[in-house]
Amino acid sequence: MEDTAAGPGSGGRTAVPLADLLRERPPMARELPSFDTGQVPAEPGPLFVEWLLGAVRAGVPDAQVVTLSTVDADGRPDARVLVLRDVDVERGAWWFAADADSPKGRQLAATPWAALTVYWPPLGRQVRLRGQVRTADAGRAAADFRLRSPGARTGVLVGRQSERLGGSEELAEAWREAAEVLERDPLTVAAGHTLYAVLADEVEFWQGARDGRHIRLAYTRNPDTSWRRGLLWP
Ligand SMILES: Cc1cc2nc3c(=O)[nH]c(=O)nc-3n(C[C@H](O)[C@H](O)[C@H](O)COP(=O)(O)O)c2cc1C
Repeated sequence: MEDTAAGPGSGGRTAVPLADLLRERPPMARELPSFDTGQVPAEPGPLFVEWLLGAVRAGVPDAQVVTLSTVDADGRPDARVLVLRDVDVERGAWWFAADADSPKGRQLAATPWAALTVYWPPLGRQVRLRGQVRTADAGRAAADFRLRSPGARTGVLVGRQSERLGGSEELAEAWREAAEVLERDPLTVAAGHTLYAVLADEVEFWQGARDGRHIRLAYTRNPDTSWRRGLLWP
């Protein structure tokens, strides 16, 4: 569908038109690492961990924050960032925690498929993966919850994530109540706190290059759970 109401050059009420400003800021205009696709592991998990640790070493803030994409009941995509909790390199499982009683939790209950995407700007590296989503058992979710900071636990216990909030006083009251519950019983676990794993069946490693010849390596899971890999056109 064509949008005739606006287009590059028509927006931006800045002194310099926004489209010009954006054009003058090409991404990845810096020295970027190389990516030797001949020296990669047979499975994507260890390579992901290597790239993640490389991003941490390169000082990428919040390098463990990834975008989770899901679809709603009407098949419309939805996305938000969240913290990656762990990677099970053997199973090819990427773990995150969320409230089952949140929009994303309900979307995953109805359609247990998701994509995770991460971009580490100083390195010009992107990883995208997708697959089926599974949940951990309640015991593991409870253990994860109890390891969280008091503030994080209170927030999850408050719940109602993404519902309309009437005002800050309403939130302050709910926060007080949840904090009291945790104070009375520090072992309390929020009912909806859930550990999810994306069991990736496709993982792509994307290394940007200043000259545009980006290097892309895709892993695809075979039916026997081994992986095959190959390069993609940039
Ligand atoms: C840096 C950062 C980290 C976040 N980490 C999480 C997280 O680990 N789990 C989570 O449920 N939401 C996390 N969020 C909040 C989500 O982006 C989102 O606002 C919230 O989960 C509601 O999403 P939903 O309405 O799609 O369910 C984080 C947000 C930011 C900016």
